[in-house]
Amino acid sequence: ATFILMGPPGAGKGTQARLLQERHGFVQLSTGDLLRAAVAEGTQAGQKAEAVMEAGGLVGDEIVTAILQDRLAEPDCGAGIILDGFPRTPCQAEALDDLLAGAGRKVDAAIILEVDDAAMVARICGRFTCANCGEGYHDRYKPLRAPGVCDACGGSEMKRRDDDTPDTVAARLRAYHAQTAPLIALYEGRGVLRRVDAMGDIAAIATTLEEIAGRVV
Ligand code: AP5
Ligand code: ZN
Repeated sequence: ATFILMGPPGAGKGTQARLLQERHGFVQLSTGDLLRAAVAEGTQAGQKAEAVMEAGGLVGDEIVTAILQDRLAEPDCGAGIILDGFPRTPCQAEALDDLLAGAGRKVDAAIILEVDDAAMVARICGRFTCANCGEGYHDRYKPLRAPGVCDACGGSEMKRRDDDTPDTVAARLRAYHAQTAPLIALYEGRGVLRRVDAMGDIAAIATTLEEIAGRVV
C-alpha cells in the first residue's frame, strides 16, 4: 500500500511515519531527510537545495522528484510505503502519479494531520534528534528518559536542525499554506483523503493512523 502523510511543518509527519515503520514494517520516505542527506553529502542536488531549505522555501520540483524517484527504485520499497513530505506542489502530485503508475501502484490514502499554526512553532522550536539513530525528541513533549542519552539506541550526541528557527518556521508555514494545502482538495476529490486531528498526544494519533492503515492494507 502507498500512503501520503500531509500536514504543516511540525504536524508530526516524521514522528508518526517512524512509528508506522517500526511497528508495521512500512518504509518511511521523507523528502526532507533525503534532501538533508544530499546537503550533508554535498551532491549537486544538495548544493542547489541548501540555501532554499535554510530560508524555509520549497526546493525545486525537478530536484525533489528526482531524489524521490531514485529512492523509490530501491528494493525495500516493494511493499508498504509512507511518503512523508511529498508531494508538496500540484506538479509533484502529478509526477507521483506517474512514478507510482509505472510501478503498478497508486495512492491508497492521503492522510492530513490537522493542527493549528501556533502550536507548530512550539513543537518545532523544542525539537531535537539523536545523531546516531535519528529518533526524534522534544524538550517538553517527548523528553529523553535519561538526560543526554537516546532512549532508542543509547547514543549521547543530539542535534537540532538548521531550519528550526522561528523565522524559518514562519516561512515554511507560508509555503505550506500557499503551495501544499491545495493538494488536500485534490485527494479529497479522488476519495482517498483521511483527516486526522493531530492536536492530541503522539500515542493517540498513532492509534488512529494504525486503524486507517489497517483498513486500507
Ligand atoms: P521536512 O523535513 O519535510 O520538514 P517539514 O515539512 O517542515 O516538517 P517537519 O519535519 O518540520 O515536521 P514533522 O511534521 O515531520 O514533525 P515532527 O514529527 O518532527 O522539510 C524540510 C525542508 O526540506 C522544507 O522546508 C523544504 O525546503 C524541503 N523539502 C522537503 N520536502 C520537499 C518537497 N517535497 N518539495 C520541496 N521542498 C521540500 O514533530 C515535530 C516535533 O513535535 C518533534 O519534536 C516531536 O517530538 C513533537 N511532536 C510530534 N507530534 C506531537 C504531538 N502530537 N504532540 C506534541 N508534540 C509532538
Ligand atoms: Zn539514538
